Amino acid sequence: MPTLALIATGGTIAGAAASATDTTGYTAGALGADTLLAAVPQLANVAEIRAEQLFNLDSKDMTPGHWLALGRRARTLLDDPAIDGIVVTHGTDTLEETAAFLALTLASAKPVVLTAAMRPATSLSADGPMNLYNAACVAAHPESAGRGVLVSFGDAIFPALGVRKCQTHRLDAFTGGSAGAIGRTDPLHYFAPPPLRAWAHMPLAPGLDELPRVDVLHVGAGTPPALLDLMIANGARGIILALPGNGSLPAAWDSAVAGAVARGIPVVRASRVGMGPVARKTLDDRLGTRPAGELPASQARVALMLTLAAGDPALLDRLLADDYIP
Ligand code: SIN
Repeated sequence: MPTLALIATGGTIAGAAASATDTTGYTAGALGADTLLAAVPQLANVAEIRAEQLFNLDSKDMTPGHWLALGRRARTLLDDPAIDGIVVTHGTDTLEETAAFLALTLASAKPVVLTAAMRPATSLSADGPMNLYNAACVAAHPESAGRGVLVSFGDAIFPALGVRKCQTHRLDAFTGGSAGAIGRTDPLHYFAPPPLRAWAHMPLAPGLDELPRVDVLHVGAGTPPALLDLMIANGARGIILALPGNGSLPAAWDSAVAGAVARGIPVVRASRVGMGPVARKTLDDRLGTRPAGELPASQARVALMLTLAAGDPALLDRLLADDYIP
């Protein structure tokens, strides 16, 4: 039987409400890892599980400092020959950012699987126990090896890069971007042969204790380009533009974007559309921008933070490379 580490970080999966029918007015990150495990005694048939509580947060309060602490703890556990894989329980709200951070910084053949829940643990028909059980089954499965960081949620298995929350309340709250789900847990099976994607990694440097600030700016019809300079003046060292359509930059933004790039502030074109890649356009050569490829704005932000931390502008091309290996 494999040995899995369970790193609990909070979220609705560890949430508690006063009433079993309350699925909105609850406290996320209220229950400990031991309580989550106790709710799923069937896990004893899947793996020996060593649980630890790293944080107990509502994931809206997660910061890059938490990503760094989690990444370091996961690295230590992956390097332990006694550990065969890791399950991370997390809130759904910023799971896609944490998943991207782990995917971009951890290179390991051992599975790392994030899971979460939409209903608090105290609710009627809570989804957390089955999601936790399925995540452990995915982490324990021999075919999960070498697939990078995965997200197991709502009976689907997604690669971490490209995953995004797509529903505010429904139980099927995640989608996997263009690659979609690579497998299902009802029952557990995989469709895609590994590796899914030759993602580059940026291992965490020992002294790295914070990440450079990168902001996401949502651009709508008529949004003033002066916002770009305000964010830079306020300390942003890189900008992700969540733009209409295929990362379509309004003409009025050309000079502000070119000016930012000329001052050494990288600007990435992502899309405010929920699904679909952002492809390179001639304006990228003209203005010096970079398309986000398959990553949603939230994950492109993580990639740009890591690039700036590494001080290696070429890393962004490798982290955002849009050549899927199906
Ligand atoms: C959170 O993200 O921690 C709260 C919401 C959730 O987990 O669904």
